[in-house]
Amino acid sequence: MSGKKTAIVTGASGGIGAGLVDGLLREGYNVVATSREPNRKANISGNLVLLNGEIGKQQTASQAVEAAINNFGTVDLLVNNAGIFLTKPFTEFTTEDFDALISTNLLGFFYITQRAVKEMLKQKSGCVVSITAALADRPISGTNGSISMITKGGLNAATRNLAVEYAKDGIRFNAVAPGVVDTPMHRNGSGESTLDPAMKKATVKDIVDAVLYLAQADHVSGEILYVDGAAPARRW
Ligand SMILES: NC(=O)c1ccc[n+]([C@@H]2O[C@H](COP(=O)([O-])OP(=O)(O)OC[C@H]3O[C@@H](n4cnc5c(N)ncnc54)[C@H](OP(=O)(O)O)[C@@H]3O)[C@@H](O)[C@H]2O)c1
Repeated sequence: MSGKKTAIVTGASGGIGAGLVDGLLREGYNVVATSREPNRKANISGNLVLLNGEIGKQQTASQAVEAAINNFGTVDLLVNNAGIFLTKPFTEFTTEDFDALISTNLLGFFYITQRAVKEMLKQKSGCVVSITAALADRPISGTNGSISMITKGGLNAATRNLAVEYAKDGIRFNAVAPGVVDTPMHRNGSGESTLDPAMKKATVKDIVDAVLYLAQADHVSGEILYVDGAAPARRW
């Protein structure tokens, strides 16, 4: 087993997740990376294990945590990044939309976080960072993400609660809440071009830097770190 720290990153095939994998490998972490990417077989090379699977399924969660333990010995950091974002007027959201958001964004958090925390409890240390969304707490006129924000706001609330529940066990929980980030998520236009007052999108690096900060911030827990270029300033 290596003496390095080990991270699990969900939603790692593109966008922020792919940037997280690169950033964590650069920082010297072992990384277990998951996504649905269909043509990738479970694969290991050096410090990186790639797995496929639907993140809303228990089996994917179990495989990711087992891969970290079996290959590297610990789970020091879990980044819950896999997520989808649907925008439409509230009256047009369907049951299928609701179910997809719950599966990917909430079950995709619940199953893998529960398994990772069981390992972190044995270690008496660990860190969970979830990628949520600034819109959950800072809605912007014209970006209609009500049902998406049930999930992201729920993750923010769970983050604050879990930070308190596990403080005595040395396990920290934080969230990074982006505004609009320049990733493939916007390839089909998800309703907003930018949220921040300078009319800039965040870069993947902006989000990766926030996660890397929280990963080593030993006395920070229960925080929601907004990376949205002060989007609320546009309201006034
Ligand atoms: N981009 C933004 O402006 C923005 C703003 C606020 C919050 N966020 C959040 O940041 C996170 C990453 O977003 P992104 O912009 O990097 O998105 P992205 O480019 O669409 O990438 C999403 C990642 O999640 C994976 N994924 C999606 N559904 C999945 C599922 N059911 N099971 C397993 N993997 C799944 C995708 O991989 P496969 O398709 O290969 O499975 C992909 O790797 C998300 O949680 C998102 O809500 C993004």
